[in-house]
Amino acid sequence: MKNFNRRNFIKKSALGVVAASTLSVSCQDNLSKPSPGKYMGDFSDKPIDNIRAAFIGLGARGPGHLKNFATLDGTQVVALCDLFKDNVEIEHNRLKKYNSVSTDVRLYWGDENKWKVMLKEVKPDIVFISTNWKNHAPMVIQTMLDGAHAFCEVPLAISTQEMWDIVNTSEQTQKHCMMMENVNYGREELMYLNMCRQGVIGELLHAEAAYIHELRFQMFQEERGTGSWRTHHYAEGLGNLYPTHGLGPVAQYMNIAREEDNFKSIVSYSTPAIGRNKYSKVNFDSNHKWNKLNYSNGDLNTSIIKTHLGRTILVQWDETSPRPYTRHNLVQGSKGTLAGFPTRIALEGGFEGVLKDHHSWIEGDDLEFLYEKYDHPLYKRLNSKTKKSGHGGMDGIMMYRIVECLKNGQPLDQNVYEGCFWSAVTPLSAKSISEEGLPQQFPDFTRGMWKKTSPLEIIV
Ligand SMILES: NC(=O)c1ccc[n+]([C@@H]2O[C@H](COP(=O)([O-])OP(=O)(O)OC[C@H]3O[C@@H](n4cnc5c(N)ncnc54)[C@H](O)[C@@H]3O)[C@@H](O)[C@H]2O)c1
Repeated sequence: MKNFNRRNFIKKSALGVVAASTLSVSCQDNLSKPSPGKYMGDFSDKPIDNIRAAFIGLGARGPGHLKNFATLDGTQVVALCDLFKDNVEIEHNRLKKYNSVSTDVRLYWGDENKWKVMLKEVKPDIVFISTNWKNHAPMVIQTMLDGAHAFCEVPLAISTQEMWDIVNTSEQTQKHCMMMENVNYGREELMYLNMCRQGVIGELLHAEAAYIHELRFQMFQEERGTGSWRTHHYAEGLGNLYPTHGLGPVAQYMNIAREEDNFKSIVSYSTPAIGRNKYSKVNFDSNHKWNKLNYSNGDLNTSIIKTHLGRTILVQWDETSPRPYTRHNLVQGSKGTLAGFPTRIALEGGFEGVLKDHHSWIEGDDLEFLYEKYDHPLYKRLNSKTKKSGHGGMDGIMMYRIVECLKNGQPLDQNVYEGCFWSAVTPLSAKSISEEGLPQQFPDFTRGMWKKTSPLEIIV
């Protein structure tokens, strides 16, 4: 605590003055300072029998988390907060059907700062944050300072300074801060994790991750909703603005930031920026606010991460170009390759009775025996309960695990450092682009402790 001016820090965080520049990279500053608290890599808190949760942000994403949480045993919703009264009231009415325990729910809406009042008045055990990106860091930091565990949507933060502030606050307060990367709980992702752990494709060499999802239509959400704030990021941001859906799963296949390996450096390039400018001109009046923006961030961003073991990870991002959705989800090992979109597998020597060598993929109906053999135990245990929970069931498995870990006092499946490493691709890709593709070093948010952090086990 010696070098850590807590009062100043709280004041800064509470006011949301944490540096918002995506180019702010202050790894050396932070590394040279001792941690203000205790390392959180394998952190577990005491078990919570009845989990009292508050929700900030009830737009497109928040209501799904609310339903998935409130329908589990041992949970209680104590407060709902959004900028808009109708969002809060609609979800409050729905909540009555989910859970008879949540009868005394405090409701907050109306201005940017009501969530701060809510934290103080309600004192929840945990807070779910599903707001716009710029609010993530101030909200998770204040949540922890006010004594609750923070569960935040992706990305966890947008600058490396914010990420350090989050890590420092989590270590200082001994509160969980989980970035809720739901894709790590997809059936294919869980199965590939299981196969990697069993050594099916040998030693891991390379991975490919992406968020390629054409979302130009969101620009029609002009006054509220995702497009109303995300469109400004497309204009003002730089590099890969949404890296974690593709990267989270492959990072866990490779045990990144967990004992075996970690991200070391990244190089990044973007294409010209064409799609958003064109789309805006074609679909909106010349005086429309979207036509007053200059969409300068390249349509497709390609970054390559080098790890300490010398492995490579390709990370791509494109929310503009007309092409089918993909997260790539590819991991290549010394004995074979697992790939996504569509699911395909190749293995040296083939698979008995299906393929005799690795020169073609096993795909489609031929994959059935693989699911039988390698489906993750967690998927087998929970799929019948969670398959209608959103995004093919991954949202429900994630929420089930959050609640299960908190109730049992176990470490969460994703720690605060993983949220930071995966999100750091945004500011680091921006810095690489602004320096003509020069490699950027990842800050070590663990201060070397990743070497002592247990790999995520295969949860049964
Ligand atoms: N993991 C996934 O699959 C997934 C899917 C969609 C969105 N997301 C993430 O979820 C988050 C929310 O996205 P969305 O699409 O729901 O956006 P949205 O704009 O529909 O919802 C955000 C909500 O936050 C509220 N909000 C903003 N500032 C607030 C404040 N100061 N106090 C209280 N409420 C506030 C807004 O009123 C809005 O209703 C984003 O981080 C996004 O990246 C994740």
